[in-house]
Amino acid sequence: MQGRVVLGIESSCDETGAGLVRDGKLLGHAVASSMAEHARYGGVVPEIAARAHVHSFNPVVQQALDRAGLTMSDIGAVAVTTGPGLSGALQVGLAGAKGIAYALDVPLYGVHHLAGHVAADTLEHGPLPEPCMVLIVSGGHTSLLLVRDLVRDPILHLGDTLDDAAGECFDKVARVFGLPYPGGPAIDRAARDGNRKAVAFPRPLTGTRDERHRFAFSFSGLKTAAARWSEQHRAEGRDLPVADGAASLQEAVADVLTRKAVDACREHDVSTLVVVGGVAANSRVRELAEQRCRSAGITLRVPPLGLCTDNGAMIAAVGDLLVRSGAEPAPLDLSIDPSAPLTYAALTPAARTPASAAA
Ligand code: KG4
Ligand code: ZN
Repeated sequence: MQGRVVLGIESSCDETGAGLVRDGKLLGHAVASSMAEHARYGGVVPEIAARAHVHSFNPVVQQALDRAGLTMSDIGAVAVTTGPGLSGALQVGLAGAKGIAYALDVPLYGVHHLAGHVAADTLEHGPLPEPCMVLIVSGGHTSLLLVRDLVRDPILHLGDTLDDAAGECFDKVARVFGLPYPGGPAIDRAARDGNRKAVAFPRPLTGTRDERHRFAFSFSGLKTAAARWSEQHRAEGRDLPVADGAASLQEAVADVLTRKAVDACREHDVSTLVVVGGVAANSRVRELAEQRCRSAGITLRVPPLGLCTDNGAMIAAVGDLLVRSGAEPAPLDLSIDPSAPLTYAALTPAARTPASAAA
């Protein structure tokens, strides 16, 4: 017998996403982005993002349904990102999701955005092996996680960033280099024509003295080093070799991320590494992860590009796992949690299964 069709809603930042998943299979999804509206401010403006979600919510849900060849009445459950993220933006998605769940009289689940990034990979590569190592790299987070059952067990953080996230480093340095927003894809493009050995940028927290922070990250020093390098050129009246700077910065970030992830797999005897989040779309991160995993005998899983950045399919994927694990739905007075820590995939205590609640 077929399971329920789960509608997933994502609105934590500047993308409005809706996705439909049943029994681990992606049926269709759609994303609208307000990125262009933020570009001239050099970063996401929360009020603009929230207003854009209001405009995009209905069309995006309809587009996802059309792509899946389904109608509203086929939806059997609704999952929605309730945190972390921008509060106004989260509110819009949650209000819309509640409306649909209430109107259709179907269960509602609150989902942690980062658990969504992890689950995105299951839509392409099937269930995650237990345990697996997850490197999550987005605009706001950089963490190494030991994941067992994604929706039943607590998620173990081996290390997090002590300051900036990897994506944030790309975004800020891109601005200094005069590249457009969002900076990550712009650095990736500029780096194609550059020499990654041109500038010896630092590799933060990789020295022997950093043993305590073996699996933690720090990108703010790297950001400062790139800014200094750029200022020096300008002060000396020289043109900035942007391609070389971009390639060298990208190399430093990719080197640190993949080195620590592979070390974590070795130390914890885990044979699968999953790299997720917006920065998993970076070509050098993907390439270096592949090379290093291959030589270490580790299986690497990275979601397809379209599922790396924010989307509704990944939230539906978590919802589908929650439904199939028999998790309790959330009450309709579910609220947002803009700074939710990643401990459980579901963001309401009630939505955890009894087994995990006891863990
Ligand atoms: O996961 P995501 O879409 O949103 C958050 O939850 O933060 O990640 C967005 C981040 C941004 O910092 C963006 O610059 C970065 O992912 N990003 C990239 C690439 N594509 C997106 N960074 C490096 N290379 C890329 N190709
Ligand atoms: Zn994200």
